[in-house]
Amino acid sequence: MNFIDLKLQYENMKVEMQEAINKVLESTQFILGPDVSALEKEIATFCSTKHAIGVASGTDALLVPLMAMGIGPGDEVITTPFTFIATAEVISLLGATPVFIDINEKTYNLDTSQLESKITKKTKAVIPVHLYGQCADMDELLAITQRHGIAVIEDACQAIGAEYKGKKACSMGKASALSFFPSKNLGCYGDAGMILSNDEDFALKMRQIANHGQDVKYSHKYIGINGRMDTIQAAILRVKLKYLNEELKSRERLAEAYIDKLKDVVTVPYKEDYNRHVYNQFTIRTTQRDELCRFLNDHGIPTAIHYPIALHMQECFKYLGYKKGSFPIAEKSTTEVMSLPMFPLMTEEQQTEVIHQIRKFFGKA
Ligand SMILES: Cc1ncc(COP(=O)(O)O)c(C=O)c1O
Repeated sequence: MNFIDLKLQYENMKVEMQEAINKVLESTQFILGPDVSALEKEIATFCSTKHAIGVASGTDALLVPLMAMGIGPGDEVITTPFTFIATAEVISLLGATPVFIDINEKTYNLDTSQLESKITKKTKAVIPVHLYGQCADMDELLAITQRHGIAVIEDACQAIGAEYKGKKACSMGKASALSFFPSKNLGCYGDAGMILSNDEDFALKMRQIANHGQDVKYSHKYIGINGRMDTIQAAILRVKLKYLNEELKSRERLAEAYIDKLKDVVTVPYKEDYNRHVYNQFTIRTTQRDELCRFLNDHGIPTAIHYPIALHMQECFKYLGYKKGSFPIAEKSTTEVMSLPMFPLMTEEQQTEVIHQIRKFFGKA
């Protein structure tokens, strides 16, 4: 069994996919070609936002909004320590300081009750992460940030299609980041990402920064980066986007079955009633995490840990001065969470086997 089965997904779309890729090869417009602008429009519509900018990765989709806001040395950006490194890495890369707050134990997202006390005169932005595919507590977060005049950048890299009280992920912040890393719910065949925003001027500035700060060819208004999207990736994503709604429904069905059949033996994902969770990861928790992972792996079932080390405990962030105990909920989560195989084409048989082995481990098969 695979943790995610990208080969099977490819087999199902092979003819369309090869046609789309061949078209780009024939056109030779390899960077920011017509598929990129078409994809931008399609993703903006999908996420209910006005503007979308295709970039080279989810990491660039976080970096560029911060650059466009002029964030740098002396500034602080608040985020979670329980996320993929990129969320906080981009803050440090610009010379600003990542300021962490602990997470909510049930949703693994930012604990917004801790937010206001961490806001200082230096705070320029907050980056909530919609972890595993469920939106953070956005009402509370937006109320606090609006009160203080602070921007919100949504890290929706794991959450395309997720909804918060009927609003799409990516439609609530000043800007939002999507990743199209292959394992994401909409994944390409390499690296790519997208920035979304409802602010026209800000969107234009971000588009220019992602292309070497260029406003007109060879005229450079800003210091920027080479953060452009490859046309081949856009063409691949346009094929996959047609299947995304069905695939998200399939993920929800699989998640319901997992929850129903595992809730008495492990802590299953908690979903707020008003949220649409898109289960980029199906992450359970148990105090016997390492033993259960070993048991499943020995029985041919792959597992993954998202994430084994909280960011404030990473060597690269030592300089921030946090220590063990700074964020107890995030730290405890790193020792207890594990993700199970989850992909839209997972068969009932495969899922039944995962469930059976987990129940067997707990002596409840
Ligand atoms: C929460 C989160 N933020 C940022 C990223 C960075 O995206 P990418 O790998 O496309 O640069 C990822 C994905 O890997 C992610 O899961």
